[in-house]
Amino acid sequence: MNVSKAQERDRYDSLAPLRDHFCLPDNTIYLDGNSLGVLPKAVLDRLQITVATEWGTDLISSWNNHGWIGLPQSVGEKIAPIVGAAPGQVLCCDSISINVFKLLATGLALRPKRTTILVEAQDFPTDRYIAEGLAQLLGPDRCVVKAVAGDELEQALNSDVAVLLLSEVNYRTGYRHDMAALTRSAHAVGALTCWDVAHSAGAMPVAFDQADVDFGVGCGYKFLNGGPGAPAFLYVAKRLQNQVSQPLSGWLGHRQPFDFTPSYQPADGVLRYQAGTPSVIAMRALEAALDIFDKVSLAALREKSLALTSFFLECLADQTCFESFGVLTPSDPACRGSHIAITHEQGFAIAQALIAAGVIVDFRAPNIIRFGFAPLYNTFEDAARSAAILGAIMAETRYLEPCFQRRQKVT
Ligand SMILES: Cc1ncc(COP(=O)(O)O)c(C=O)c1O
Repeated sequence: MNVSKAQERDRYDSLAPLRDHFCLPDNTIYLDGNSLGVLPKAVLDRLQITVATEWGTDLISSWNNHGWIGLPQSVGEKIAPIVGAAPGQVLCCDSISINVFKLLATGLALRPKRTTILVEAQDFPTDRYIAEGLAQLLGPDRCVVKAVAGDELEQALNSDVAVLLLSEVNYRTGYRHDMAALTRSAHAVGALTCWDVAHSAGAMPVAFDQADVDFGVGCGYKFLNGGPGAPAFLYVAKRLQNQVSQPLSGWLGHRQPFDFTPSYQPADGVLRYQAGTPSVIAMRALEAALDIFDKVSLAALREKSLALTSFFLECLADQTCFESFGVLTPSDPACRGSHIAITHEQGFAIAQALIAAGVIVDFRAPNIIRFGFAPLYNTFEDAARSAAILGAIMAETRYLEPCFQRRQKVT
């Protein structure tokens, strides 16, 4: 019943044709675009040219002739509208982890009398690990990390907070914070904000400029479909860019890298946030993957994302097994990202049984199964069928098979 309802909704989905731009394996329902986006067909063509012609034939001349040297900036400008940034504020480079380090160090330098970096205790660990690494490096007189629950962040904002570091959408629960409101609260006590939009960019409009955000980071490999290990991006509000420089003062953040001068002079603006040589092949893949965002409005993507997650929740509720699960994701769509997280004490084994049945989800310790819905290519039929397959797995207790208990390194 839900499947025919889903097919009907797919027929009237104006974004449905976008699915043809992606390589989706047969007999698979891919619900892990919140971890690794699928391969856009445009990437195959672009990489063929980059590898065979730009690298294979034109070799070193490509740094100039094919614009390799400007890729962090030009790909950053392609990401800028996706995160609601006017030109000149987004750079595509490094990983989120490295970019968080650069931005937190900058934030502390901009607030020299303050020591606290405030984080959400249940946020993606790398952000906190990096903050703690920086605190260790600087010592407790200069930097301490304070971790509190998501609903305690407002109260924890005080006159010692230099930077509030927070994911807009929580990687476990799928809870979406109000970026504008929290940024206002942070600014009211004189703190800066650094928003991680790994689980937002490409699935919904992000409004860095409008929310008056100070810093931002995000990755290229989830909803932007840039490929495994795709370069990340960072955002620095124009008003802050030239006030201080960041500590990873590599040569490509220099004002004139090819002058090879002995002393470091930071480039103007966001370019000073580059450190070393960009990974050209990976940048080209991400660049090609971003083309699809010219064809679609982010508001339409958000609408479809919420329709998919709401429909999936309805389909789940129809399964007799539903009561054996906890649902972490808020039922209020405004507070939801683009994935649904459910919990079960056998969560790991259930996730493996789903994967074996062709429903690709992932597991997050200790007991969370995540179903990611990428509005560019997931369908309502994906939602209905995956809920039905989960129902069958539970009814048959298929997850108890020993093969579903074996843990690999990546979950
Ligand atoms: C919110 C968030 N931040 C950061 C990361 C990972 O950062 P990095 O690109 O440095 O591996 C992830 C990975 O899934 C994430 O979900």
